[in-house]
Amino acid sequence: MRHLIVNIGQLLTMAGGDRPRRGKEMGAVHPILDGAVLVEDGKIAAAGFKDLVLNDGRARGSRIIDAGGRVVLPGFVDSHSHPVFAAPRLDDFESRIRGKTYEEIAARGGGILSTVDKVRGATQSALTAGLQARAARFIEAGTTTLEAKSGYGLDLDTELKMLRAIETVGSGGPLELVGTLLAAHAVPPEFEGKKDEYVRAVCSEIIPRVAGEGLAKFVDVFCENGYFSVEDARQVLAAGAKAGLRGKVHAEQLSLSGGTQAAVGLNAVSADHLERCAEPDILALAASGTVATLLPGSDYFLSKPYPDARKFIDLGAAVALATDFNPGSCPCWDMRMILSIACTQMRMTPVETLVAATINGAHALGLGATHGSLQAGKAADLVCWEAVDYREIPYFFGASGAAWVMKAGNIVHSKEDIRL
Ligand code: NIG
Ligand code: FE
Repeated sequence: MRHLIVNIGQLLTMAGGDRPRRGKEMGAVHPILDGAVLVEDGKIAAAGFKDLVLNDGRARGSRIIDAGGRVVLPGFVDSHSHPVFAAPRLDDFESRIRGKTYEEIAARGGGILSTVDKVRGATQSALTAGLQARAARFIEAGTTTLEAKSGYGLDLDTELKMLRAIETVGSGGPLELVGTLLAAHAVPPEFEGKKDEYVRAVCSEIIPRVAGEGLAKFVDVFCENGYFSVEDARQVLAAGAKAGLRGKVHAEQLSLSGGTQAAVGLNAVSADHLERCAEPDILALAASGTVATLLPGSDYFLSKPYPDARKFIDLGAAVALATDFNPGSCPCWDMRMILSIACTQMRMTPVETLVAATINGAHALGLGATHGSLQAGKAADLVCWEAVDYREIPYFFGASGAAWVMKAGNIVHSKEDIRL
């Protein structure tokens, strides 16, 4: 089955070499005016200037989709989220409004451990149903691939339950999910005062079992004062590497604790958050293959300082943007909102935010060769926006703006009557 998308007012293919865009490259992307995309069997067959695509022999006889002069982009690749949970943390939200900090609320029994309590009590089918409903919201917002972490179980059975929910929802589609094991998210109550013992259990029991069942592609660790140290992070990433899981690190979110350099040293696929990074951390990222994933939605929601995105880009790092969707620090699934915050609060340009949310997000998931740009052979994951200029995407914040969404060649959300 072939589809030809024509009358694209601005087409941003994000095409380029097989590595993330870094530094100045992030701003050096220009829209193709009057572009076209040819899709065959769920993959991009050709994308670019209309005349070139229409000249492709395979274009003849394809079903035509008219983009109406609007903007077409790759679907967002949201490379950091915690979307499996049983209930929102509305009391934490209200306590923060009344002046308590995220750290104070966690110390008084709220925070991550309160979500753990509820997830342990939930059935796998309830978690699956909740995730399924949220997955539809991501698709409507233009996200076609989402990383999904465990981390609200903190024991083998509950971590497995969360990852199985992710596998069930991801394999049913249309939202493609990439599972990450985050057993090192907090020390569970039964290991209070025995963090080292818990880290040993994560490394010797949970990681091998999850990897053995093929339930995760990555292992992650919350490297932060009061959670896990750099040494803990090293152990977790080393155990992950032994089991075939590449590393990700929650680094320097609330304090400068050294997670970034540990991530770089252990060849992690990404280091995430990075609000408190100092210049040597940024330089280490810039000189490495580790993607710097910024999550400004959590800073907005927790009223914390934003990371210095300009410095990351100007010093040559490969920056990705993601939601960090979770019930505690960022209950936002909408990448458009994240891009808007990145523009207004972190001075990223609109095109830099779009690169960060597509091709660089794909690289932050080890999917740069197959996702994140509209190039021959890659997945036909793309979005037609209700916009004639791509800058409208971060400009009209707080609004849903995807006219239709294509995942692997199928229209999976549409505000219009498109029949394939
Ligand atoms: O990325 N920082 C740790 N993990 C999440 C928050 C999880 C939660 O509060 O439930 C984050 O912000
Ligand atoms: Fe997170």
